[in-house]
Amino acid sequence: MPDKKQLHLGLFDIHTPNQMTQGLWAHPDNQSYRYKELQYWIELVQLLEKGKFDFIFFADSYGYPDLQRELAYREAVYTPSNDPMLAISALAAATKHLAFVSTASPTYEQPFAHARRFTTLDHLTNGRIGWNVVATGAASGAKAFGREEALSHEDRYEQAEEFLDVSYRLFEASWENEAVTVNKAKRFYADAAKIHEIQHHGKYFKMTAAHACEPSVQRTPVIFQAGSSERGRDFAAKHAEGIFLKAPTKVALKKQVDDIRARAIKHGRQPEDIKIFSGLSAIVADTEQAAKEKLAHYQAYSSRDAALLTYYSSTGIDLKELDPNAPFQAVNSEKGKSHTERYTRHAEHVLTVQQVIDDFAAKEFRGIRIAGTAQQIADEMESWMLETGIDGFNLERYIMPGTVADFVELVVPELQARGLYRTEYAEQTLRERLFGKGKTRLPEQHPAARYRN
Ligand SMILES: Cc1cc2nc3c(=O)[nH]c(=O)nc-3n(C[C@H](O)[C@H](O)[C@H](O)COP(=O)(O)O)c2cc1C
Repeated sequence: MPDKKQLHLGLFDIHTPNQMTQGLWAHPDNQSYRYKELQYWIELVQLLEKGKFDFIFFADSYGYPDLQRELAYREAVYTPSNDPMLAISALAAATKHLAFVSTASPTYEQPFAHARRFTTLDHLTNGRIGWNVVATGAASGAKAFGREEALSHEDRYEQAEEFLDVSYRLFEASWENEAVTVNKAKRFYADAAKIHEIQHHGKYFKMTAAHACEPSVQRTPVIFQAGSSERGRDFAAKHAEGIFLKAPTKVALKKQVDDIRARAIKHGRQPEDIKIFSGLSAIVADTEQAAKEKLAHYQAYSSRDAALLTYYSSTGIDLKELDPNAPFQAVNSEKGKSHTERYTRHAEHVLTVQQVIDDFAAKEFRGIRIAGTAQQIADEMESWMLETGIDGFNLERYIMPGTVADFVELVVPELQARGLYRTEYAEQTLRERLFGKGKTRLPEQHPAARYRN
């Protein structure tokens, strides 16, 4: 057994041309515009598997541009966007080990159909599926689903709680372990006495049905979460097995990590039941100077206006409408508090609106940013892990697949040489990869487990 804590790696990605640095889609080497080609994704996941990544993580949203439409479509600001889930079974066929985490929002899905899709993918990937649960707040998404306006922040998390509760019952309780025998000689596929209807009459969802699918290897997909508001962290501490956090400093990140682990204990879980990931934007080259030049070259493509539009899309706040000299601390968002609190409660001092604009235009939604040699990047990764207690990183793109190819070629061998990262895949399912061999199903202390038997 390696004596150093092994780090976990994911790639943060999306089925749309632009992500993280708006405008960079236009860089001549960036192939992200090929997001609609299956071959593009096949090449990417095979590259990730070469780099022994744990998973590829697909962000997703039903929001569409409802402000500055001309800019949004011209610069491909999170639009057009394809459904990431539809690529997954093909990508599973092109890989053996890489896992897939896909975002789906309880704000818009229905538990029955949603559970069917995830169980189907858990079967087809042989347990390589995770679900990123988001409490999405886009008003444009609400309108697309025939609702006048989005629910409040509190109500969305309440709705997500209810959604998870029904989903757990479908995944864990509807079909007993012995329900399926597939005995051809006796002409007996499954035993109706061991398959149970789930009846639910809640505030947001109503359903009476047995789960459509027979149990898959993990039953419940590995639960991920990415909202870091007070409410979001409590939700994550109760349900999530993987959490995606971002913070401006190690001190701020450690505070969030400690808070989540303490909350997990209050929910009857173990602190190590949750793997915590930070976003990581890494530009690697043979010398620090070359890496910094590469970063400056990429940054030159960034569109400030498009960046500010993404801030609006995620928070409902148009920063350009605010007084640039006013302090930012009283600003609140019903949509995504993670992205306002980053500049309020997690900031080291009070910022003006102008400072927020400048910082956001440079970093957008990126996590830790490093440009340097492989050794420098590995040093930083080690120190963030040691000093904050996180378990791994979600790599963020600049150009595709270049950012990933450089990381796999230069940083991965450095991490392996330090004994920090796997050299071979050892486990089959995503849950085992995160928590250890044999741990294919949710542990007894998870809230879903109470529905078993
Ligand atoms: C790193 C990160 C990634 C996210 N990815 C998505 C996403 O793909 N789709 C989405 O609708 N929301 C996404 N969100 C939004 C949150 O998951 C969350 O639902 C929203 O921000 C509201 O919760 P909050 O106020 O706790 O942040 C993301 C947030 C963060 C911090």
